[in-house]
Amino acid sequence: MTKNVKSEFDFLVKDILEDEHFLETKKDLHHGTSKYEHSLRVARLSYKLSKIFKADSKIATRAGLLHDFFFGTRKEKPENSYLRHPVTAANNAKKYFNVSDVEAEAIKTHMFHQVLLKKVFPFVNRKEKASIKEFKPKSKEGWIICASDLLVSVIECERFQFTYAANVLLLLILNIVLFKN
Ligand SMILES: [Fe+2]
Ligand SMILES: [Fe+2]
Repeated sequence: MTKNVKSEFDFLVKDILEDEHFLETKKDLHHGTSKYEHSLRVARLSYKLSKIFKADSKIATRAGLLHDFFFGTRKEKPENSYLRHPVTAANNAKKYFNVSDVEAEAIKTHMFHQVLLKKVFPFVNRKEKASIKEFKPKSKEGWIICASDLLVSVIECERFQFTYAANVLLLLILNIVLFKN
């Protein structure tokens, strides 16, 4: 990052990174790293993609940072589960950082790739339910966060690289199909 870009990014995330509740995410293991580090990587990539795709950098960066803002691991509580944690994170982001509806929606839809995967392969996460309509990103920033989370996860989860690469491809194809005018 250049100096100006870095200072804009730092300005956008400073209050969240210093918040005592967000600092709790340092304790949670996520993809073999801390949830704090994972979220920061997703925020950095979302910020860069927002510049490339002319999206709102504030929404993409802050919602990217808060996309996994839940406490504990995904297996600890039903509301932290694979497909429900985005709703929990959106509610926490509203509660602690008063995020806008657009930001909350972008957080809520960040696992859309997995919702699609479940529709194609119903045996994946059999006990969970999630509708495509409810969890499809509704904004450019929402798509950016969804893609950033997936790409960062590919790098973090080396052992799942093939699955994640297939998911990225699926997401890109569906994005083109769903958004062609
Ligand atoms: Fe997540
Ligand atoms: Fe994530």
